[in-house]
Amino acid sequence: MINIGVIGAGAMGSGIAQVAAEAGYGVLIFDVDPNASEKALGKLQKNWQKAVDKEKINPEEMQKRVALVRVASDLADLKDFDLVIEAVAENQEVKKSVFSRLDEVCTEKTIFASNTSSLSITEIGSFTNRPDKVAGMHFFNPVPVMKLIEIIKGLATSEETIDALKVVAAKMKKVGVVANDTPGFIVNRLLVPLCNEAIKMLEAGVASLEDIDTAMKLGANWPMGPFELSDLVGLDVHIGATAGLERELNDSHYACARLARQMYRANRLGRKTGKGFYDYNK
Ligand code: 3HC
Repeated sequence: MINIGVIGAGAMGSGIAQVAAEAGYGVLIFDVDPNASEKALGKLQKNWQKAVDKEKINPEEMQKRVALVRVASDLADLKDFDLVIEAVAENQEVKKSVFSRLDEVCTEKTIFASNTSSLSITEIGSFTNRPDKVAGMHFFNPVPVMKLIEIIKGLATSEETIDALKVVAAKMKKVGVVANDTPGFIVNRLLVPLCNEAIKMLEAGVASLEDIDTAMKLGANWPMGPFELSDLVGLDVHIGATAGLERELNDSHYACARLARQMYRANRLGRKTGKGFYDYNK
């Protein structure tokens, strides 16, 4: 495998493009908004410049990485790619249009992976004529730092596809774990309900959000408290993830906390909008 296409240039897509280039793959980023792709390129260069400044890499390595990443103007530019990783909005209709178009334009060899955290990989596979070559590749935020990739096996995903993605994960210096196509996979099945419970505890007046965060950092050794984490991930993602768990597990216990839905309506999504449980404009 020598090249990887990344669809979607948001926080996850740009992080995936970064680790792919660091692993030595040629990377093509596509986003419906060309400004988003250019912004992602700028972010990568900024991150690598920081690594040069900290003397973690030399300027030659930075130039090598920069040269590996380009912006695509059309999905058809990914025609001969070995792997395409999709990181667009968590909306199955949007994913359907991306994957059915990719299926038309890409040669038979191309493997398709989705970074979805809450949608069915089996269903995504059904949008294509190559469900055996469709799998989940679920990265964690912030992608350059977090060591895990969940590799998700849909009903029709072949062992060859899973093996190929394990190799990519290892080249990206990540640890790949394999999970079946089930709601939330491994991490979010556990983490999302915990963060949701923290929001419900705040609603119930158990403690202040700062004290709940402090308690989990010092009492459970979490690197971030549940509210800091929800702000990092985004309340929009939290709502999608809880809705997926509630629907697929058919259990109202997973229903999104009311406060999270209210915050979504107020566009207090977390770091991405400057305000969530905490204010990032200060
Ligand atoms: N991009 C690139 N690098 C970053 C970064 C980012 N967004 N954020 C932090 N870093 C780097 C820093 O540059 C620093 O690098 P260095 O060691 O080379 O100097 C290193 O990470 C540590 O950063 P800091 O010292 O600034 O901060 P912390 O030590 O507090 O670590 C953290 C920050 C890594 C974000 C840590 O708080 C953490 O691990 N938090 C938990 C994150 C987590 O649980 N993520 C999973 C969320 S769930 C998810 O993503 C699934 C999805 O489907 C919802």
